[in-house]
Amino acid sequence: MSRVLSGIQPSGELHLGNYLGAVRHWVADQLVHDALYCIVDLHALTVDTDPDRLRAQTRETATALLAAGLDPARCTLFVQSSVPEHTSLAWLLECTATMGELSRMTQFKEKGHGRTSVRVGLFTYPVLMAADILLYDADRVPVGDDQRQHLELARVLAERFNRRYGTTFVVPEASTPAVGARVMDLQDPTRKMSKSTHSPLGTIGMLDEPADIERKVRRAVTDTEGAVRYDPERQPGLANLLELLAVATNRTPADVAEGYERYGDVKRDTAEALVELLAPVRRRHAELAGDPGEVLNLLRTGAAKASAVAAATYRRAATAVGLLELD
Ligand code: TYM
Repeated sequence: MSRVLSGIQPSGELHLGNYLGAVRHWVADQLVHDALYCIVDLHALTVDTDPDRLRAQTRETATALLAAGLDPARCTLFVQSSVPEHTSLAWLLECTATMGELSRMTQFKEKGHGRTSVRVGLFTYPVLMAADILLYDADRVPVGDDQRQHLELARVLAERFNRRYGTTFVVPEASTPAVGARVMDLQDPTRKMSKSTHSPLGTIGMLDEPADIERKVRRAVTDTEGAVRYDPERQPGLANLLELLAVATNRTPADVAEGYERYGDVKRDTAEALVELLAPVRRRHAELAGDPGEVLNLLRTGAAKASAVAAATYRRAATAVGLLELD
């Protein structure tokens, strides 16, 4: 059985981009693959974070992922920091990566703004991400579009390490969905939907109340062309809505566009489809929130399962580079 691994930052509540670009596919993958999903709390330390908030958001992210449909009986859900081999392997990979490679990472350039006060961890972040993946011999990594460059680096590092020290790592493939890999901000369709957005109206939370979803979709920025076509270049706002409606109803955006003449109708149906898509998630979340102890138990079990795999891979890599083994 092939293995999939993916990760998500513990930003608390997930947004529609996380759900449609990644998590929805994780839920499907757990049924047919050996699947591991990691809440990457160490990655969160690359920017300013409040300790209590980080702890709370890590728990909340786990709850949200379970609500989205991850089933601990079918996948391994764990927190990155509970498996210390992530940072150990990251060091071996830092000694494999080059400054030039990391300097080219677009996310670092966007978030770092060229400031020297930026944390070293933000610079080496993609190497830790490569360690997350390579530790588990993952064949496939389901992610949204914005993570493709990081994935490419993980592949390059795995190949270089294997060439230098002998075959040690599985070289992973990125996998992004055909539609939904890049959900755009509803207020600024040239930017991807994210938690740190300018306007709260631009981002739909996975657990948003139906009335909020309807309001945000109704107020989504479109254009003045006046014709319903799927044209992401000229009509990015409308195209984003058509994509949302397409993923929520299992069609292609171009097919969806055929059935409409008015933007208002697209918005009405998109809101309705999203409310319906997310209703079971909201329901499960309400149930899980009532039993926080159970979520921690599940994370403990997940950590034990992940550790067993990670320890073996790390040992392999450490021996390959020449670290002395004493036991
Ligand atoms: P993160 O936490 O930003 O996002 C989690 C997943 O959601 C996807 N995503 C989107 N997809 C479509 N449209 C959007 N607007 C959108 N916004 C986010 C992301 O592509 C991602 O798949 N570096 C990673 C976390 C990570 C990881 C890993 C992922 C750490 N280690 C190992 C895979 C494997 C990140 O910050 O994702």
